[in-house]
Amino acid sequence: MQRHRMPSKKFKRTLVTTALPYANGALHLGHCAGTFIPADIFVRYKRLCREEIIHIGGSDEHGAAITIAAEKAGISPQSLVDKYHQMHKDALQKLGIAFDHFSRTSNPIHHQTTQEFFLDMERKGIFVKKVEKQFYDEEAKMFLADRYIVGTCPVCAHPEANGDQCENCGTYLSPTELINPKSKISGKTPVLKETLHWYFPLGRYQKALEEFINEREASGTWRQNVINYARSWLKEGLGDRAITRDLDWGVKLPLETEEAKGKVIYVWYDAVLGYISATKEWAQKIGQPEKWREYWLSEDTRLIHFIGKDNVVFHALMFPAMLMAKNDGSTEKYVLVDNIPASEFMNIEGKKFSKSRGYAVYLHEFLEKFPADTLRYAIAVNYPETHDTEFSWKDFQNRTNGELADTLGNFVKRAVDFCNTRFGGSVPAECTLEDWQALGKEFHELLQKIDEAYEGFHIRDAAFLTMEVARHANRYLTETAPWKTYKEDPAKAAKSIAISLNLCFTLGVLFEPILPHTSRKIFDMLDINSPICWHDAKTPYLKAGHRLSGKSEILFRKIEDREIEAELKKIDELVKAAEASEAKKQADAQKPKSEIAPLKPQITIEDFEKIDLRVGTVLASERVPKADKLLKLRVKLGEEERTILSGIAEHYTPEEMVGKNIVVVANLAPRKIRGIESYGMLLAVEDAQGKLNVVELHGEGLNGRAVK
Ligand code: 2FM
Ligand code: ZN
Repeated sequence: MQRHRMPSKKFKRTLVTTALPYANGALHLGHCAGTFIPADIFVRYKRLCREEIIHIGGSDEHGAAITIAAEKAGISPQSLVDKYHQMHKDALQKLGIAFDHFSRTSNPIHHQTTQEFFLDMERKGIFVKKVEKQFYDEEAKMFLADRYIVGTCPVCAHPEANGDQCENCGTYLSPTELINPKSKISGKTPVLKETLHWYFPLGRYQKALEEFINEREASGTWRQNVINYARSWLKEGLGDRAITRDLDWGVKLPLETEEAKGKVIYVWYDAVLGYISATKEWAQKIGQPEKWREYWLSEDTRLIHFIGKDNVVFHALMFPAMLMAKNDGSTEKYVLVDNIPASEFMNIEGKKFSKSRGYAVYLHEFLEKFPADTLRYAIAVNYPETHDTEFSWKDFQNRTNGELADTLGNFVKRAVDFCNTRFGGSVPAECTLEDWQALGKEFHELLQKIDEAYEGFHIRDAAFLTMEVARHANRYLTETAPWKTYKEDPAKAAKSIAISLNLCFTLGVLFEPILPHTSRKIFDMLDINSPICWHDAKTPYLKAGHRLSGKSEILFRKIEDREIEAELKKIDELVKAAEASEAKKQADAQKPKSEIAPLKPQITIEDFEKIDLRVGTVLASERVPKADKLLKLRVKLGEEERTILSGIAEHYTPEEMVGKNIVVVANLAPRKIRGIESYGMLLAVEDAQGKLNVVELHGEGLNGRAVK
């Protein structure tokens, strides 16, 4: 168990946000584990503590992620987001995620808010404008966003690398680095055309962000993984980030100029502002339209973003920098984030959740078969807080049947049924403070530890400790065995039942954040209708004579083996199908390629002279762990030695490469691949069988010399 730390500052209110999922596909368990369930559990806990808190979320409805999915489905982006936004809303409601507001970024208030931020920064001269060459599809008559371009990865030779990243080797790319790029729209080779874009100068905030991260780290409340991610970006140095795109879906640039035509604001600039616009909408909904200001424009607000680890850079650096820019020169100051409990990933049956690979377990399908609380519990106890965790169907079954049904459900039912059948349905005795104290030190310490776990966002610990309380209660009832003492000592049995019913109440409160539907059922049986608070769990609540409702429910039905087997079979089929499709892609990539790539557009001699080709000699060579296609080469280049990573491991052994004189693009900017800095690229030719042939020179005294 971890050390629990409390927030250092006292805030008046808390604003919790959950990452806005794209409205381009159904939610899966990965979304629930990373953000929705932990956030909802935390917020419910705080609400019970009677703290002022709101939970804001919504759908992310812009960007190429949406337009590409819409094209695939053959519908308009609007129809696509309408469909998935509604699905998100319904599934999350069924899961019991109690948002104060769940909005969507296609709403007018969001467009206005984003445009207001953009205009403010434009007027203050914060943006940098740059003309850049970008791929243009002449047939579709449009500039292509990175994700609209596919081509061969320059690092691993994967034939279907995207313009922003190669899924095969994980390298971040820019579209112009792709070999033989093709437009995903027309399938044609795109041309490079000049276009103007607005950049947010993130680098200008480097120092301020370093101070911000240092300060947050000093509070001792941030997760180490979040600090590490943020620091790794800071270490690399922050540069300008393009915040406009040539796309016709998204928030339009609020400028009437010719150069702004056909451009929208980049989805990540608008998505984070979605938290603000959704809060505005919430304020309107509750009839206090100015109330959003109390949350966003006050230092007394504790702002918390629940996100997955892949979104850290946007929430720990980009969004704070945007707010710093907005606050600059303004009397109104937006609050910066206080904490980012970013999760690691949750895998399924040993596979990474991935919609594209088809391993996902979809939330709406899950909820058609199993109750929401069983999922909430399984995820809470497996919450990926410090490392990736695993969802397994067998574990889900064991926890539901063992912990939820046998421990919690059985205890509550035994106590309630006994009271109903033997004591006429009224609490048969007083549970005094002395009786309560007698439950033991360990029991009372547990209650204290649960608070500490929540304060530190340790959802897993909180769930574990809460189940420990249920175990205590169960043991208490079994040990005092009122069904045995009832005949000869009814007062003793009455006492045991009074204490047990109070324990039922306590469990109803303590489990409310994790199992809200179950908690409601417990309160129904106990006939509790008045508002309760967290503190009520800590002392006896039910007085002697309090009448129960007379209802008795089995809180959890057991999950049968055949249900689990069906799910395992389904996953197995999905995995097999995904593997088969992967294998087909690989085989296609290996097929002889008779096609000779068309010539690229003409360049001038000046263009060519920019490229510095040199002869390098391979001094050493080794494989890169977990990257089947990469070789790491130590290359001598004149006076210097460098490391170059190359995607040739399937074509050359490390030993074969040593001693070769190769041709290196020597002035290519260094790049980090798999955490290793690669400086330069070697030339190779793919033959008709798809084999890569490294361009090799024979002769003496060539090392370091220019290839002209
Ligand atoms: O990664 C994603 O799914 C994004 N749609 C998350 C956005 S979070 C926030 F900025 F809205
Ligand atoms: Zn690659």
